[in-house]
Amino acid sequence: MILFLYIYIYICILIFRLYWHYKPILSSSSLSLFWLSPMESRYSSSVFLFLLWVVLSFPSSTFGLRSCHFPAIFNFGDSNSDTGGLSAAFGQAPHPNGVTYFHTPSGRYSDGRLVIDFIAESLGLPYLSAYLDSVGSNFSHGANFATAGSTIRPQNTTISQSGYSPISLNVQFIQFSDFHRRTQIFLKKGELFKKLLPKEDSFSQALYTFDIGQNDLTAGYKLNLTTEQVKAYVPDVLSQLYNTIKNVYGQGGRSFWIHNTGPVGCLPYILDRYLVTAAQIDKYGCATPFNEVAQYFNIRLKALVAQLRKDLPEAAITYVDVYSVKYTLISQAKKYGFKLPLVACCGHGGKYNFNNNMRCGSKKTIKGKEVLIAKSCSNPSVRINWDGIHFTEAANKWIFEQISDGSFSDPPIPLKMACHRMDL
Ligand SMILES: *[C@@H]1O[C@H](CO)[C@@H](O)[C@H](O)[C@H]1NC(C)=O
Ligand SMILES: *[C@@H]1O[C@H](CO)[C@@H](O)[C@H](O)[C@H]1NC(C)=O
Ligand SMILES: *[C@@H]1O[C@H](CO)[C@@H](O)[C@H](O)[C@H]1NC(C)=O
Repeated sequence: MILFLYIYIYICILIFRLYWHYKPILSSSSLSLFWLSPMESRYSSSVFLFLLWVVLSFPSSTFGLRSCHFPAIFNFGDSNSDTGGLSAAFGQAPHPNGVTYFHTPSGRYSDGRLVIDFIAESLGLPYLSAYLDSVGSNFSHGANFATAGSTIRPQNTTISQSGYSPISLNVQFIQFSDFHRRTQIFLKKGELFKKLLPKEDSFSQALYTFDIGQNDLTAGYKLNLTTEQVKAYVPDVLSQLYNTIKNVYGQGGRSFWIHNTGPVGCLPYILDRYLVTAAQIDKYGCATPFNEVAQYFNIRLKALVAQLRKDLPEAAITYVDVYSVKYTLISQAKKYGFKLPLVACCGHGGKYNFNNNMRCGSKKTIKGKEVLIAKSCSNPSVRINWDGIHFTEAANKWIFEQISDGSFSDPPIPLKMACHRMDL
């Protein structure tokens, strides 16, 4: 990069010199630089324009305005990006999940596609198969290690006690590592495996995406910890995320796309279940302490990313401020064509249409017949919240559109260029 910069400055100086040298020929008007009418100046002007073109186009290649080639995506996360992991291990996310797009439960906690699906689509890749899904999976363009309810830190409770997935980030890394190792072995075992597994060099060229941390914050509240106590363990959570990213780098990963955590205080399952005083509710109806702790986490996550850039010299790491995008959508729902931002589309009763004992897809047996109690609202496409915890496909699409061009990223580069390390 430094070398490129020298060459660039050198060419600039060269052009400046040439300009002064030919200035008398180019005539006194500076505008005449761009029209070549006098015969005698045609040649020199062409040289000048050519060099000008070199200078103008140079930064675009140097500073990464070239699209990356991502042959695969490896995703780590929680329900925000689970495409079937928890369903494969603990039972399918029930109907009406998937109703809008897949028209059948698809392992996603949404009526349709997730942000990770739109990311895959936009890179021209198929939707990611869940690593744990042993039926119909195709990992030729990546794998998804996320499961709903995953945390960064392993929890000391079982899934039946607390609802948090035992497949925490450290386990997801172990699975990734084993996936990588076994891929190398099985690529040598014939054509069938080659059609189902990533190529060897896909591991270094892939985009590694992370969307995890939200459940680490809520897990403390579930154990009745105070906000101060939750904040106190955030550094431990982040140091474990640091280790995982470093380990992925150690396995050859170079391009990282890291989502920060969303405004959890705007989600019905928080608003319904935790007592917040009127003074703790902001003007849009969100619970301030929960959002503050999310922002506390995000500030430190951003600093962690800066540290990782220093420690991993070949890594291109993009920090994506999903918090701001989600909060904007919720606080200005109407402006963007949505309504009832704090009310679940699929649920059963209460102020937020959320009942923790009757979550989206819950059934009841009435007169010997199973009846769907917690069903979808009539038009999920104008709603933001799907089931009290997750976003609708329409909201996910909107979120993806905001983040994909780099407007909410640090460094501010589009998704398609996330393989370029920005040192300037
Ligand atoms: C689980 O327990 C261990 C040992 O007491 C502790 O170090 C760790 O922080 C606990 N994890 C969580 C998520 O509370
Ligand atoms: C897996 O997906 C890739 C890309 O979509 C495709 O080329 C390949 O044939 C698929 N493998 C099988 C066994 O269907
Ligand atoms: C948290 O407090 C609630 C209400 O007091 C209680 O029912 C629950 O058992 C407590 N949870 C834990 C993990 O201590």
